[in-house]
Amino acid sequence: MNTLRCDQTEAWAALRGHYEAHGRDFDLREAFARDPGRFNALSVEAPQVFADLSKNCIDTATLHFLLDLAQECQLEARRDAMLRGDPINHTEGRPVLHTALRSPRGQGPFSDDVHGVLDAMLAFVETVRDTKASGIRHIVNIGIGGSDLGPQMVVPALDAFVHPGLQFHFVSNVDGHDIAPVLRHLKPQETLFIIASKTFTTQETMANAHVAKAWFDANGGTDTARHFVATTTNVKAAAEFGITTTFGFWDWVGGRYSLWSAIGLPIALAIGADNFRALLAGAHSMDRHFATAPLAKNLPVVLALIDVWYRNFHGFSSRSVAPYHQGLKRLPAYLQQLEMESNGKCVDLDGTSLPYATSPVVWGEPGTNGQHAYFQMLHQGTDVIPVEFLLVKRPTHAFTDLHTKLLANGLAQSQALMLGKTTEQAKGEKAPTASKSLDADTIARHRTFPGNRPSTTLVLDQLTPESLGALIALYEHRVFVSGALWGINSFDQWGVELGKALCNDLLPRLASGETGGLDGSTAGLLQRLRA
Ligand code: F6P
Repeated sequence: MNTLRCDQTEAWAALRGHYEAHGRDFDLREAFARDPGRFNALSVEAPQVFADLSKNCIDTATLHFLLDLAQECQLEARRDAMLRGDPINHTEGRPVLHTALRSPRGQGPFSDDVHGVLDAMLAFVETVRDTKASGIRHIVNIGIGGSDLGPQMVVPALDAFVHPGLQFHFVSNVDGHDIAPVLRHLKPQETLFIIASKTFTTQETMANAHVAKAWFDANGGTDTARHFVATTTNVKAAAEFGITTTFGFWDWVGGRYSLWSAIGLPIALAIGADNFRALLAGAHSMDRHFATAPLAKNLPVVLALIDVWYRNFHGFSSRSVAPYHQGLKRLPAYLQQLEMESNGKCVDLDGTSLPYATSPVVWGEPGTNGQHAYFQMLHQGTDVIPVEFLLVKRPTHAFTDLHTKLLANGLAQSQALMLGKTTEQAKGEKAPTASKSLDADTIARHRTFPGNRPSTTLVLDQLTPESLGALIALYEHRVFVSGALWGINSFDQWGVELGKALCNDLLPRLASGETGGLDGSTAGLLQRLRA
């Protein structure tokens, strides 16, 4: 498909002019004062997710130019190409079809393959979840990156739905400090190990899988076939490892988009077949929204347009994610891989260096914990960092007072970021903890908040398999859209290769001490680590 890169469009130039004329000095407080309908005009309702975009530095003109950009970049055609299975991951010659994994039976590409594995996996899940019969109490998922972060994020998020008789452990790091404390408390006969790896070659996963197998044998484990299963596209390698139960998937599922595939086995074991199907259905509802909603009301599209506006015109280099739900504590880590591995690229589809910025840094912690750590910088630091608040209306616990406090905190933070506090306001307030040896003006300057700091608030009614599925799919499509506008391949990850190759070179050197041909720093460090 011959499409324009974002910087070659007329809309890009128009956005530059719009930024200079209105964007640079845009003031959220004035925008709300000017337009009482701003909240309604700038909120979007998508399946399971409501988004308040009104605390962003945009107005209808900004959105108009951004939507022009999407049109000129043929976003809809690109989206349709992905959804129908064109090989849009052109550097690996593969389609990108994670959406097919959540299409209802009989719909979407590869439906028979997808539902064949899904049915088999969910039947297996029910046998393990019958803990009286299976004897299994602990599930250990051994995988890294996309073979870890999705399940590791979803299982605690859906804690209210998790089988009470099963405990879940996630081992990813090649650092033995990860697996050692997990194994310490386990018994082989009560444990099911899932070796999760798309390629079944990843150093960390293979090393941990061998450690787990050796521990199993050394501790009287019998019946490896019942206690080790694999989730992979490389069924042959899993068989060579000695695993007979394997749930497969396909090379058109990217690692960071794979929790819907067999990689979701720990999730299915945790929440059961029906809930896993609900997770898929929630994602599918977002897929339908993405495929059919007009661009101006298409939530992943609008969020991505704002991302581009902030990254390329305002120059904001990071975005903070603040899920006000403790169950979502791993969401920021999950989003880091999803967004930064997808869009952390510096060449376009032809391999030409890009003259503009791509992926922002994505980071965060659950609220309210982040408030007592780095929110100081968000409010008074020198950088403007857009924040994404995620609020859940109804909790799955009975401590309603705690939940009200949680919601009030989330609302207050986005309000404080926007409103700020003038020096005059600060002067008019009492500051009982301020030093008595400083004058009131100086104290007031320290207690001033610039405000006008943007945020988005996403609201879910409740965190359920369905709403979480929709939320994750929302993020996936948003990453696709910004990547498409930037004209990059969001679906390869060559940037992780170099370190892997150099590690393979250094491994034997750590044993032998051979430093020939190494740079001075690496040679020095290697000697120091060996000494
Ligand atoms: O770090 C690169 C990467 O290839 C990720 O994209 C992937 O999710 C992860 O490693 C794990 O790979 P695999 O599932 O093949 O073990």
